[in-house]
Amino acid sequence: MFLRKRSLFVSIGQLFSERTCSQVASQSSKPESKIKIQNGPGLSHFLKNNPSKRREKIFPAVVDTHAYISPDQISGEGKKVMLVTFGCQMNVNDMEIVRGLLVQNGYSETTVESEADAILIMTCSIRDGAEEKIWNRLKHLKKSQRRPRTIAVLGCMAERVKSTLLTAPGDLCQVVAGPDSYRDLPRLLALSRSGTKAMNVQLSFEETYADVSPVRVDADSKSAFVSIMRGCDNMCTYCIVPFTRGRERSRPIDSIVDEVRRLRDEGVKQITLLGQNVNSYRDTSESSISLGVDSKMVDGFSTVYGQKSGGRSFATLLDNVSRVDDEMRIRFTSPHPKDFPTEVITLIKERKNICNQIHLPAQSGDDKVLEAMGRGYSRETYLSLVSHIKNVIPDVCLTSDFIAGFCGETEEAHQNTLNLIREVDYSFCFVFPYSMREGTRAHRRLVDDVPEEIKMKRHEELASVFREVTLRRNLSRIGETELVLVEGRSKRSANAVSGRSDGGIVVIIEERDKKIHAGDYVVAKITGGTSQTMIGEYISHSSIREYDNLR
Ligand code: 5AD
Ligand code: SF4
Repeated sequence: MFLRKRSLFVSIGQLFSERTCSQVASQSSKPESKIKIQNGPGLSHFLKNNPSKRREKIFPAVVDTHAYISPDQISGEGKKVMLVTFGCQMNVNDMEIVRGLLVQNGYSETTVESEADAILIMTCSIRDGAEEKIWNRLKHLKKSQRRPRTIAVLGCMAERVKSTLLTAPGDLCQVVAGPDSYRDLPRLLALSRSGTKAMNVQLSFEETYADVSPVRVDADSKSAFVSIMRGCDNMCTYCIVPFTRGRERSRPIDSIVDEVRRLRDEGVKQITLLGQNVNSYRDTSESSISLGVDSKMVDGFSTVYGQKSGGRSFATLLDNVSRVDDEMRIRFTSPHPKDFPTEVITLIKERKNICNQIHLPAQSGDDKVLEAMGRGYSRETYLSLVSHIKNVIPDVCLTSDFIAGFCGETEEAHQNTLNLIREVDYSFCFVFPYSMREGTRAHRRLVDDVPEEIKMKRHEELASVFREVTLRRNLSRIGETELVLVEGRSKRSANAVSGRSDGGIVVIIEERDKKIHAGDYVVAKITGGTSQTMIGEYISHSSIREYDNLR
């Protein structure tokens, strides 16, 4: 299975690569090669895989080395790799997939830089600063290099920057692999061992890595992330993700449920389902085709986008996953407010192990800015969704993302965002200063006209208002109880453990006489808090079912 898919990727790369592949392949840095590079199958073998014209428009021509090596040449033979991850949770999960693939192919992992035969860096492109960090790390790695080794850049920045990573002065990197080409990594690494710089940045319509078992960095952790879909079709004007991660595609329910069962058997107590827009999840695999029920949207809420239909929806997935074990907590991130299905809200209310926490990224509280961002909702429709959710789940914890200083954002628009944060009463917000990304719709159509110092000032104001709101919320819980799933020892206090409430807030609990372990459910009485945490006093050990019966 693995080899068949691998050769398909090589071939697709070839279709696009006539001009540029010779440019990349000619960057051989070692004259002699231990691995004999052969010419792979010809172009005509793969014509049926020719992508549509529409796709060529969205994703510019891809470059790739077309050097072909045989399956027996790609084994890692115990070579050591060091894996370094930057960016979002999706990247952490992607690195688990890479770890799984490399282990399958005879590699072993090291955390000691000087021992590594290859260092693989999972990268982020979402803001300019994220890429800046990676360039600095690459320069640092070059300086600290004592013996030959391969540096591989994976993920979003690999997809966005492509061969510039290979051609940058200083020979900083020898392998580039985009988010859909991790199956090809053993071949790319083998090529680099032979002295050939290698790249595969082909995006796919189908790849979900559904058959790859991710290997977690901390096998003892009681929390795990499970990727349910890849890519994004939303095209928010500020966002680079549709260009780095490609078109949206969902992983079949059965493979997700199997992975959740496996994690449960390994002792995992909390699963977070991951996707760029989980609401548009659709399992359209063969087994699901006729099973779908189309989702209803919240009243008064419309979308400018076509709603996805057919197959099995996110609500069905959530239902199935939450039934695996009713003592395992389920969270998900991120839904898009534009297509939040009512069944999901009802399911969260009914199913005790689906946490009462919803990440609902607003990005702005101003209609003109929302329009310019292409978000597909207004402030009013967002607020009507919030009030619907609060009506059904009164103790829900809502979190959000906000961008400060987007193109054309006035002081009045910024004030609208500040008062949205107060009005919704979020339990946490992630706030970012806007960073224009080349290739996005905003880059082509809008002007990045908010001066840097104003962006920073607004960013700080957003952060300070959400801290005000969350501090008040956390302190208002004093005297109440929370069911906390313990994650481990607290980093702040030697005699305390740290865990999360159902709503996702960190709770610090002093241990006293009773031993508390990671994975335990503990009832804690809230005695204090800050804007980011609550302090709790241990009451008793419990379970989701028992705690629910008590209330
Ligand atoms: N600049 C700043 N923040 C951004 N985000 C996405 N693109 C940009 C950008 N160009 C933020 C959004 C998104 C989160 C993951 O990152 O708030 O929800
Ligand atoms: Fe994750 Fe987006 Fe950054 Fe890619 S660009 S790593 S998807 S946050």
